[in-house]
Amino acid sequence: MHRDSTKSQRSRGIHAYTSAQLQSLLDNISTALIEVNQNGLILFINNAAEMVLKTSAHQLVGTLISDLVRDAALLAAINEVTQQGNLVSKRGVMLELNHTVLEPVNFNVSPIEGSANHGDTAGCCTLIEIVPIEQQLRMSREEEMVAQQYATRALVRGLAHEIQNPLGGLRGAAQLLERELKEAELREYTQIIIAEADRLKALIDRMLGPKRSQQPQWTNLHEVLERVRQVIGAGADATITLQRDYDPSIPEIFVDKDQLIQAVMNLVKNAVQALEDQGGTIILKSRAVRHHSIGSRMHRLVAQIEVIDNGPGIDEVMGKNLFLPMVTGREQGSGLGLPIAQSLINLNQGIIEWSSRPGETKFTICIPISERQESR
Ligand SMILES: Nc1ncnc2c1ncn2[C@@H]1O[C@H](COP(=O)(O)OP(=O)(O)O)[C@@H](O)[C@H]1O
Ligand SMILES: [Mg+2]
Repeated sequence: MHRDSTKSQRSRGIHAYTSAQLQSLLDNISTALIEVNQNGLILFINNAAEMVLKTSAHQLVGTLISDLVRDAALLAAINEVTQQGNLVSKRGVMLELNHTVLEPVNFNVSPIEGSANHGDTAGCCTLIEIVPIEQQLRMSREEEMVAQQYATRALVRGLAHEIQNPLGGLRGAAQLLERELKEAELREYTQIIIAEADRLKALIDRMLGPKRSQQPQWTNLHEVLERVRQVIGAGADATITLQRDYDPSIPEIFVDKDQLIQAVMNLVKNAVQALEDQGGTIILKSRAVRHHSIGSRMHRLVAQIEVIDNGPGIDEVMGKNLFLPMVTGREQGSGLGLPIAQSLINLNQGIIEWSSRPGETKFTICIPISERQESR
C-alpha cells in the first residue's frame, strides 16, 4: 500500500490532538496496537495490546519484540515490513509468545511513515495490529443468541396470552360447577381442574418473566454474591464447597439488585444440582474487564460474575438449546432457570455467556460498568 505521508498526516489532523488525547484515543481502540522501530525495539503498546500480550506497557516498552514473541509468522512479517515496506496480513495464526501459545488471531503489520517523532532516528517504524479471533467469534455467537432469545420470548409471550384467557374461563367455570355439586366425591374433580389451572397460570407467569418495573440502583456486586452464598450455602450438601474469588476493586454497578440476585441464584442452583451426586466445588468469582463486548456493543469496562463448578459439564446437544425455555436435563427440572436468568440480565444491559467441559462449567454474567454521572 502506498501512501502520501504529508497528505495522510494532514487528513488525520495530527496537530489538532494533544499527545494525551492521542494516547487516550489509542487506548480506547479494541484492536491491539504495537509500534516497533527498525531494530525491533517496542516503542508503544496500547491497552488492548497489554491485554493480548498479558504484560504491561511499562514492562514492554524499550524491549525487543523478538524477546517477547516467538511466533515465526509474526516475526517474519515484521522483518518483511522493515526490509521492504510492504503491508503483511495473516489470518487465523496461533500467536505464540515466549511462554505460551495464545488464542488464534488475525494480524496486520504495516510501515508507519514519518514516524520519527519518538526521538527515534532509525527512520520508518512498524505498526503491528492484532485482533483475537475468539473475540469476533464470541461477538457473532452472542448476536445470534440475542436474536434467538428475542424470537423465543415473542413466541412465549404470544402463546402465554392465548392460553391465559381461556384458562381464566376454565377455572371460573370449574368454580361455578363446584358450587352446584352436592357430592364431595365429584367435587374432587373440579378441585383437580382448579389446581391444574393454577399450576398452569403460575408456569405462564414465570415464563413471561418479571412483572414489576425495573428498579435500578447503585449496587455492590459483592453484597449480591454474599447474599446468594448465604442462601445457597445454608441448603447445600456438605459435600459441596462454595469458594469466593472476589476482585475488591470493582466499582458499583447500576442495576436492579433483586433481578441480579435472582439470576446469580439460578446459576448457582444449577451448579449445586450438577454436583449433587458426586460433590465438588463451586467458585463465585468477580472481575472487572476492560474493552469487552456485550452482543455487538463494545464497552470500556465490564463487570463479570462467574459461577464455576467442577461437575460433569453440559453435553453438546443440551448446550445448543441451553437458554430455550422448557429445555431441561433433569427429571424434576422446569427448564426455566437459565432463560429467566438470561432475560433478567438482558434487562440490565448485560448478557450471560457460558463454556463447559467435563470438570469445568463456567457461566459468566457480563454487565457494563457505567460512569456514575452518565447513568443518573
Ligand atoms: N452448571 C451446570 N452443569 C451441568 N449442567 C447444567 C449446568 N447448568 C445448567 N445445566 C443444564 O441445563 C439445564 C437447564 O437449566 P435450567 O434452565 O436452569 O433449567 P432446570 O434447572 O429447571 O433444568 C439443566 O437441566 C442442566 O441439564
Ligand atoms: Mg435450573
